[in-house]
Amino acid sequence: MIYLNGEWQPLSGARVSVLDRGFLFADGVYEVVPVYSRHAFRLDEHLQRLQTSLDSIRLTNPLSATEWRDLVLQAITRQDFDDQQVYLQVTRGCGPNRDFPFPAPAKPSTLIYPMPLITASAELKAQGVSAISREDYRWLRCDIKSLALLANVLLRNEALDIGCAETILIRDGYLSEGAASNIFVVKNGVLLCPPKSHLMLSGITYDVVLELAAANAIPVEVRPVSDGELRNANEIWMTSSTREILPITRLDDVAVGNGRPGPLAARMDALYQAFKHNVLRQGGAS
Ligand code: PDD
Repeated sequence: MIYLNGEWQPLSGARVSVLDRGFLFADGVYEVVPVYSRHAFRLDEHLQRLQTSLDSIRLTNPLSATEWRDLVLQAITRQDFDDQQVYLQVTRGCGPNRDFPFPAPAKPSTLIYPMPLITASAELKAQGVSAISREDYRWLRCDIKSLALLANVLLRNEALDIGCAETILIRDGYLSEGAASNIFVVKNGVLLCPPKSHLMLSGITYDVVLELAAANAIPVEVRPVSDGELRNANEIWMTSSTREILPITRLDDVAVGNGRPGPLAARMDALYQAFKHNVLRQGGAS
């Protein structure tokens, strides 16, 4: 069951107009909230980022934070699977025709669509995944969680075509992020990560990783990371709400470090899992 514009309905029957600006212009924003054993993880942070994205595209949030929270919790209970990725989407709705001006008054379309969440298996984490690198040719507002993901889709499919899991994006010689993840680099025991800017999404998982590093005295440098540093890394990780923390052990067909997941990735994953279970034991959303 999904929620679309005020109604709960089966996914198969859900319809929006061809005039919806999400369809015509990708004029909208989204979130993906991970849910474990029916407990939403970091829901407030996801709703806050949704608000930031909406503000960035000058679209009034159709729901209050309390309404969002209630609807997401309802959506979670309506599914017959326990671990979920709940997709939230708001578009600018329909105008009278296909034209650029914002419709006034705006009547946003709101979607809540839970899907099963399958996180990386222990085997995959123990083995790591392969990635390729590409020039980051996306726009200059990658901080907005925009529906306009064509560049991300094309870039990631270049990786998938050759059996790799992710495409790492480089802009002007510096690491920005993955096509659908943030990227961390480990060199000599120090965790390196690009600072938040308009060139990357401010990841919820990225924040958790930095919080856990600070709480556990893991050395961190938040600063621009060069392409050269990426290629000389001891470890590379990708992070996202759906992939959690996943070691990248091959980049452009060259081994990362010794070609096996590194010790800091294993440590951070253990911290992340412990933190997650602790939050869930206390009832979820934090
Ligand atoms: N994507 N950067 C990009 C471009 C992303 O698309 C994502 C996540 C992230 C990681 O953000 P977070 O830790 O908040 O999930 C970084 C989601 C999962 C998606 O589009 O499906």
